[in-house]
Amino acid sequence: MAVAIITNIKLLVNTRQDSRLLRGKELAELPCIENAYLVIEDGVIADYGSMAAAPKFSDNPIDATGQFVLPCWCDSHTHLVFAASREEEFVDKIKGLNYAEIAARGGGILNSAKKLNETSESELLRMAMMRLNETMQLGTGAIEIKSGYGLSVEGELKMLRVIKKLKELSPIPVKATFLGAHTYPVAYKENHQGYIELIINEMLPVIANEELADYIDVFCETGFFSPEETETICKAGMSYGLKPKIHANQLNLSGGVQTGVKLGAVSVDHLETMDEETVMKLASSSTIGTLLPTAAFFLRMPFQPARQLIDAGCAVALASDFNPGSSPSGNMNLVVAMSCIQMKMLPEEAVNAATINGAYAMELQDELGSITIGKKANLIFTKPVPSLAYLPYSFGSNMIDKVMIGGEFN
Ligand code: NIG
Ligand code: FE
Repeated sequence: MAVAIITNIKLLVNTRQDSRLLRGKELAELPCIENAYLVIEDGVIADYGSMAAAPKFSDNPIDATGQFVLPCWCDSHTHLVFAASREEEFVDKIKGLNYAEIAARGGGILNSAKKLNETSESELLRMAMMRLNETMQLGTGAIEIKSGYGLSVEGELKMLRVIKKLKELSPIPVKATFLGAHTYPVAYKENHQGYIELIINEMLPVIANEELADYIDVFCETGFFSPEETETICKAGMSYGLKPKIHANQLNLSGGVQTGVKLGAVSVDHLETMDEETVMKLASSSTIGTLLPTAAFFLRMPFQPARQLIDAGCAVALASDFNPGSSPSGNMNLVVAMSCIQMKMLPEEAVNAATINGAYAMELQDELGSITIGKKANLIFTKPVPSLAYLPYSFGSNMIDKVMIGGEFN
């Protein structure tokens, strides 16, 4: 049996034996142990506690004096598989072009779709693996990845097959989401019903047959998919066992949150544009609100109303939205920092939202998201830091010393 013992941990963060989805005030409660030890057996957390009550260790322990140990980030919303970056659009936006003008120049999601359809499965896999490794070095220990840059039967299946390969190759858990309804492809610009039928009749049966997805997603937004269309597509996915995780209320009060709650979605994600009624609707549901602050930041949009959501009693998670158009970064440390700096989340709330609640948003709560006996030893070891709040406070500095995945240093 492979055993790793870590001693003298300055702060062991998010220790909880009875993990549950945290909502409202519970998010501010972050159980920690000062001057702690941690025992890992065969990649799984076997024991932990205070050094004062530590058993006699025979093996050579790893000394973590001055360091914090946290569960890895659980990034529950990414579009990590894509063919090319889009920094030319970024510069066009700096120069003052708006969304419509960028789209008219062939930009946006359709730009990514064109390039993805021209790129081989092996090349997409190679690039996605590199990005995945980068996010792991930044402390991500579980990740959800969406399709949605194919927008054709072959393109969507190609993306999902890449994600399936990533599941096999990746040392961290990967969840796959089918987002065929990301936008309407050019050929179906005037034939929305035709594209929805393509999703339901041509894509979903193959996806179900090859077990290519865990979830179904729709970009429920004015000018994209209406609440009715979202419901139709999600219900078709649900008939194959895919639970909904919906892009909702990013640009408008789109009705996406209401649709997600009605369908019992695992999560509704984005939520830049909320009103009181929508916040209360989410708060009274079991659906998680996943906030993506780096997307709001990159698009120069108002940040998600995290305080209002938490104070109303919502279950909130944080994720990176890593994608080439609205969040070309999978750095969860920055997501956590931004949620504190711009959205006034307490450091404790942000850590909970990015770990245990992120795990719930991928239904990985029994494996990851907290320091719990029996969970995977996917752990962040920080450099010496004075306090938990120092992590988001020192935004932009890399405070990670090393990352452990399955009991092994990465
Ligand atoms: O989550 N909002 C929709 N989809 C992505 C961005 C897509 C893109 O611009 O490539 C998002 O932000
Ligand atoms: Fe997204």
